[in-house]
Amino acid sequence: MKEKQYISSQLNYLKASPTPFHAVAAALRLLEDSGFIRLFEKTPWSSLAKGKYFVTRNDSSLIAFTWDETCTGKLHIAGAHLDSPGLKIKPRPVREKHHCLQLGVEVYGGALLAPWFDRDLSIAGRVCCHQDNDTLHTPLIDFKRAIGIIPSLAIHFDREANKGRKINNQTDLVPVIGLTDNFTRGFYALLKDQLLKEHPEYANAEILDFDLFLYDVTPPLLTGLHEELLTGSRLDNLLSCHACLQGIISTGQQANSLIILNDHEEVGSLSTTGAQGSFLEDILSRLYKNPIERQQVLRKSLFISADNAHAVHPNFDDKHDPQHLPVLNGGPVIKYNANQRYATNARTAAQFRMFCHLAEVPVQEFVMRSDMACGSTIGPMTSAALGIDTVDVGIPTLAMHSIRETAAKSDCWFLFRALQKFFSAEKNT
Ligand code: CO
Repeated sequence: MKEKQYISSQLNYLKASPTPFHAVAAALRLLEDSGFIRLFEKTPWSSLAKGKYFVTRNDSSLIAFTWDETCTGKLHIAGAHLDSPGLKIKPRPVREKHHCLQLGVEVYGGALLAPWFDRDLSIAGRVCCHQDNDTLHTPLIDFKRAIGIIPSLAIHFDREANKGRKINNQTDLVPVIGLTDNFTRGFYALLKDQLLKEHPEYANAEILDFDLFLYDVTPPLLTGLHEELLTGSRLDNLLSCHACLQGIISTGQQANSLIILNDHEEVGSLSTTGAQGSFLEDILSRLYKNPIERQQVLRKSLFISADNAHAVHPNFDDKHDPQHLPVLNGGPVIKYNANQRYATNARTAAQFRMFCHLAEVPVQEFVMRSDMACGSTIGPMTSAALGIDTVDVGIPTLAMHSIRETAAKSDCWFLFRALQKFFSAEKNT
């Protein structure tokens, strides 16, 4: 795969993935197109033939792997999270105020909220419905067009606005989705119309519930004088998810490889689909039925946990340690933290450096300033739960957790190439 083709696939993946559910659906299409076979947790897997497989959980997390039962050596594992901070629609969302039709939302994760104002927003996610019998279905919907906005308060009512305005999540962040005069049929009827537009086969379905998010309709794009920058929503962490997917898709099958894409990282990972849940352990125990053998394999293996890193911001460079300034177009960043907020150690960092060296891509380092608190990611949890040596890495990004983030195009390509080397690394001995 060439860089241009990779970036075009990256942009398509971002466009198709306004929510974790859509990101899993888009991943599933990429994997199926490349010959991966879908498995289900609800059925037994008798001994799997040599091949490529994937399994999803709750439509919002995914594990894909290449498998050869006779390989008892290393398992190459990479992981990333599919969720991003944002606004999730409340169960009884509709409110009418001064002719404005509005939707109540909860803040999901550590969102940078100011950039959500005055954006054209759409709605996407999944609905849960039943039709004709008792079986529940969870089709995805995506309105795709702009239907909402969170208008700012005019500066005339708050002359101090530019000196730091506090945002109240309950009262300030309520999007307007139209005028009350035109709204007669209720929110569920609106969802049903959209469901039928996208999935006519649900004509007799009754929608019982939903998981829906707001998102920015502005598509991701390349910008900069030479189109060297990539901007969009959810770059943290769909850039890593895409690199994991294309990495495992492009590897030859000489060793067993696995990727895990988790939900709920931004809210602490404690769920059936999060990194503190049982998903990875459950799948590994199906693949390696003997627990001692599983432990031996994991102790030989490396887990690359990929999650965007903070590039140094040209306007705020004093926020970084002056010796550790990850730059855009400087390659993937290895993340260190003495207090184990990142799982990297000298040995795992050295292994990642070797893959970068083999792939001929640059590599850089991040450590938080010693007088500031450090974030974390799925690396330490997965490492602790499985006893697998882990390195935390990521693509340098600006404006992390904004509704629109910025990265360098080249760094996406660099991470993919490093992962590709990892997945096709030495045979299983
Ligand atoms: Co992240």
